[in-house]
This record gives sequence, C-alpha cells and structure tokens, in this order.
Amino acid sequence: MNIRHLLIAVSTAALLHSASLLAQSHDASIANHQPHYYSAQEFGIDPKSVTFHKDIQPILQKSCQNCHRAGGGGPMSLISYDEVKPWAPVIRYRTAIRDRLGAMPPFFAEKDIGITQFKNDYSLTDLDLALIQAWVDNESVEGDSADAPPALVFNESNDWTIGTPDLVLRSADLTRPAVGSDWWGDVGLIPTGLTEDRYVAAIQVREVNDIPVDAGNTTVGGRYIFHHLTYTSGVLSEEGTAILADDVVSWPIHEVGRNPDIFPEKAGRLLHANSALHLEAAHLHSNGRETTGYLEFGIVFFPRDYEPQYSRRGPRTGNGIDIDVVPNKANQEVHNYVVLQEHTKIIAFEPHLHAPGVRMCMEAIWGHNQFTLNCVGYDHNWVKQYVYEDDYAPLLPKGTILHTIGYLDTTSANPNLADPRNWAGGGRRSVSNMFIDLGYSVSLTEEQFQAEMDTRRARLKDRNDYDIACPLCWAPVITPTAQSVAQEAN
Ligand code: HEC
Repeated sequence: MNIRHLLIAVSTAALLHSASLLAQSHDASIANHQPHYYSAQEFGIDPKSVTFHKDIQPILQKSCQNCHRAGGGGPMSLISYDEVKPWAPVIRYRTAIRDRLGAMPPFFAEKDIGITQFKNDYSLTDLDLALIQAWVDNESVEGDSADAPPALVFNESNDWTIGTPDLVLRSADLTRPAVGSDWWGDVGLIPTGLTEDRYVAAIQVREVNDIPVDAGNTTVGGRYIFHHLTYTSGVLSEEGTAILADDVVSWPIHEVGRNPDIFPEKAGRLLHANSALHLEAAHLHSNGRETTGYLEFGIVFFPRDYEPQYSRRGPRTGNGIDIDVVPNKANQEVHNYVVLQEHTKIIAFEPHLHAPGVRMCMEAIWGHNQFTLNCVGYDHNWVKQYVYEDDYAPLLPKGTILHTIGYLDTTSANPNLADPRNWAGGGRRSVSNMFIDLGYSVSLTEEQFQAEMDTRRARLKDRNDYDIACPLCWAPVITPTAQSVAQEAN
C-alpha cells in the first residue's frame, strides 16, 4: 500500500504547531540565557530540610560523579561534602543553565519541547534543580551521614565498557612532541583479518598511551594525543595498500571522551571479509608531554547468522559549504532542508556546529504540519549524541521535509570563540563553521513502517494522546480504490 492512500491530514497537529514554534523561537543568545529556577515548595519540600547527604549526594551520583572524581574527566572531585561545599554556588548556576552552553551535566536537550526520551539520559529533573537551589540558598547544610546513599564504586581502569570485544584492532604507534602544532591527516590502514562478513553490534575506541594515570592533568586534552578521528572500512585491494571504493562503510567518529557506539538490534553495521579499517583523518595534538600512543578498536559482533532488518542511512542533513557567519552577532540562524526519500526512523540526533554554535533544532514538515522533534543546546567543548529510546524515536513517512536550524552566537559572550571580530565561512577547523546533523537513521519498507507505527499506536492511551515522533500514527488507513491502484501502477 502506498502512503498516499493512507492519509489525509493530521488535524490535531495544527494546534501543536503554533505552540511548538513559540518554544522553538526562544532567544538563543548567550547573553540572554535564562537559568531554570524552581521553588522547592512547589514540590512539597521544605527548603530548609534539604541536606547534602539526603538530597544532593544522590543527584551527584546519578549525574556528576562519573566525571567528577579522581581519574574522571571533570576538573574536580564532587564526592565528599568537603569537596562539594566550596563549589555550591557555581553548581547552582551551572546546573540551572541546564540546556545552554556551559551547562552541567553536559546533556543539552531542551525539556520543554519535542521528544524527551533518550538513552543514557543523565540530565537533571526539575525536582533535582529545585533541591540543588534550595540546598545552596539555605547554607548548604551537610545533614546526617546516615542518610547518605552507598558510595559508588568506579572502574578506574581503561577497560572496555562494551564487555569483552570479539575483535580488538590496533593502530600503529604515533608520537607527538611535548609542544607542537596540531597535525591532521591519514594514519593508515588496519587489516581486520576477517575471513567472513560480520555484522557489528557495538564498537568502542580507546587511546592507550604512556601518560601516567596519576599525571595530575586538569584537562582531558592533557591526557591524550588523539583529538578525533574519522574512519571507514572496506574490502582491501589486492596489494593490501588501500580499501576498494565500493561498499565503503562509515563508522561513528572517534573523539576524546566519546562513549561506545551501540548499534540498534535491527541495524547492525557490516564489516566485510578481507576488510581493513581506514583511519583516514586523524587530528593529533600535543599535550605538554612527549607522548606515544595508539588507538584500539574493540568490536562486538552480532551472531554469525544475524541479518539486519533495516538498512542504515548516514547523516542526512547539513551544510558544510556555503555558510556565512558574520562577526559579533547573536541569534544568527542557518537552515537546511532535506526531503526524505524513504520511510525513516531516526535513531540518533547529533548536532554538529563549530565554536559559534549554541543551539540546533530539528523539525519535520509533513504537508501543512510542522513538528519540532528536538531543540538542543550546543557547546563546542562537548560532542553529544542524543540516542532516542526505541519507542520514542521519530518515525517519519517518505516525503517528510527534515528541517534543521542552527543557532550561532559570535558575540564576545561566547567563550568558545577565538575572536568575535572575524567573519567566518564553512570549513573543517573550529574557527571555520560546520552545520550538520551527524546522527543516523534507518530506512523502512512500507510493511516495516506500518509495523513500527502499530507498536507505537498500541502505547498511546486514546486518540487524544499524541506522539510528536509519529505524525501519522493516527492517520486513517484508507483502503485503496480501483482508481488509486491504477494511478499507483502508472
Ligand atoms: C561527562 C562528564 C561530566 C559530567 C557528567 C559532569 N561534569 Fe561538570 N565538568 C566536566 C568538565 C570536563 C568540566 C570542565 C569544562 C567545563 O567547564 O565545561 C566541568 C566543569 C564543571 C564545573 C565548573 C568548574 C569550574 O572550574 O568552574 C562545575 C561547577 C561542574 N562541572 C559541576 C558539575 C555537576 C554538579 C555535575 C552533575 C550535575 C556535573 N558537573 C556533571 C565534566 C562533567
């Protein structure tokens, strides 16, 4: 059945439309960041009763300590009361800016618009913010240590977090001088040694180097030499000196501090027999100490008889070419439109801008309906991928126009900018600009699309319940007429 037979209109969407546009059009300039302040009373809590051990420690465990601990990526430890207390006012502010550049924890999805169900979401709830604010405003009381949750135990090693990989591949050793300019280029091939095609369920990349674990660096950049790497795979040429241009598979970019990539159950990624990884563009960087290191790629396969049901599509939208960013101006917008040629389920949204970037929104336009799927803040110090929970991922019919909007701020309020006086165009360096959604999606056949929508519909309470990620869930299914079948045949 063709989708044209399925729908006429989703009239409720027209109402949502105006509300979502309002929320989307809020001021994205850094100078006007509105912190999110809440009153504890609204949550039925006496603000004076809030204590560190009872109320704040659980929040720090959930959202902060994975980075803010000895050996973590954060600049200071936020475990004990004595460690946290001096930071209380800064914590109050950094958490209240929530989804804007500089926010802590670094998870910038706006909660008042679009889809809010993400995997590995460690952002703070309104209640968390109310508790932090009440605690700081009432002398940051320690309270009774008997109320404290059990301390978390951290894995201090550089171990794999995807479990034991089925295959570990290793790059060549590379050495960076203590001080030197950044280097960018091709760092060669790694043959996989595979004798059969295998589908990959998860991949994790880690840098192993000779920097002592207790070197006492205060920044993540001081611990590594690989800033980031883009790489692909493909079948090795006969001479073994290149990969063949057909069937090149792209892999998620490796960046300092990136989590492993776990691919959807139905859309594993293919690693060919007799293939190699091609580490085609590495950005290497000197960190103040002569360092030798290499990258390891830990790969977990699906079982041998696995066949993917869905075909994957790479990043779909963006504009890296004709961007025109003027100096010293907030709320600059860049727009991009793509018409989906197939029914599509978006798995992950990964806004990618450069230093001027402060926000990105993605909306879906279908007929006269316009849905904001998400708006997320952007901070070029962080590379964040927002992976949707399976049951909430956007399910869009072919013909949908995906519209992405990037918001840029080139005023001196933007601490990520090298110089607010410079005009900049598109380009690879952070002082030039990019505007891409690096996320990915899968294409669905008509049957798969209908089946996904059936599952989605079953979760909705009734016809007044609405799922912005599934604009056609309630569209009437229209039986094809003899005439429409004839038209379709043409
Ligand atoms: C993913 C790792 C990560 C998580 C999670 C995280 N932080 Fe951070 N935090 C950092 C890094 C890295 C910095 C330094 C860079 C920056 O300021 O953006 C930082 C900076 C800060 C600062 C500013 C320090 C300064 O020198 O001014 C505060 C305060 C802070 N974090 C508090 C928190 C709190 C509170 C949480 C949890 C609610 C949290 N962070 C979660 C990594 C993290």
